[in-house]
Amino acid sequence: MLAVIVRPADEGDIRGLLRIEVECFGNEKFSAETVRAFIERSDSFVLVAALGTEVIGSAMCMIANSDREGRIASVAVLPDRRRHGTGGKLLAECEAFFERHGLARYTLEVDTMNEAAIMLYISKGYEINGMIENFYGAGRHAYLMVKRAPVRKRSVAVRPS
Ligand SMILES: CC(C)(COP(=O)(O)OP(=O)(O)OC[C@H]1O[C@@H](n2cnc3c(N)ncnc32)[C@H](O)[C@@H]1OP(=O)(O)O)[C@@H](O)C(=O)NCCC(=O)NCCS
Repeated sequence: MLAVIVRPADEGDIRGLLRIEVECFGNEKFSAETVRAFIERSDSFVLVAALGTEVIGSAMCMIANSDREGRIASVAVLPDRRRHGTGGKLLAECEAFFERHGLARYTLEVDTMNEAAIMLYISKGYEINGMIENFYGAGRHAYLMVKRAPVRKRSVAVRPS
């Protein structure tokens, strides 16, 4: 049986990424130019969840070095592939990338009505840290969610005696 692999996206994934945009976000989908910019820019990255040759999920992130913050712009999984851990896997890989870049906290905005996404983020340790009114248009508010990077102890040299 094929396993879901999470890996960085490249140009060859654009078609699969646009399918995800259409099937998961409808009218609010990112354009091809936006998706391409997320892949190409040095302060952003895109991960895909692939099942064989099919792209079944994506995550798009930004790196705000000035704030030492990793920002998750979107996580999405094709409707018929949900509830198998793929969203969680994508999120974990975003965080691993942030951690490698020394970013101390991870943030995102999510529609206050998007129960699936809120539950995903809460299940992975994110906390609601405020609300931004009308973030998605009149009457559509966003929660600001935050997770602090785990504190890693640096190894120390041990005296031989
Ligand atoms: C949010 C989304 C990415 C979750 O993807 P997923 O692959 O189904 O997530 P997972 O299977 O990894 O779920 C992990 C946990 O999140 C929570 N969760 C996910 N979907 C849920 C739902 N519909 N209802 C309640 N809890 C949910 C559960 O705790 C789940 O663990 P469990 O299945 O063991 O109970 C997916 O629903 C999606 O693509 N939604 C549309 C796009 C979107 O709105 N993205 C977020 C804003 S950018």
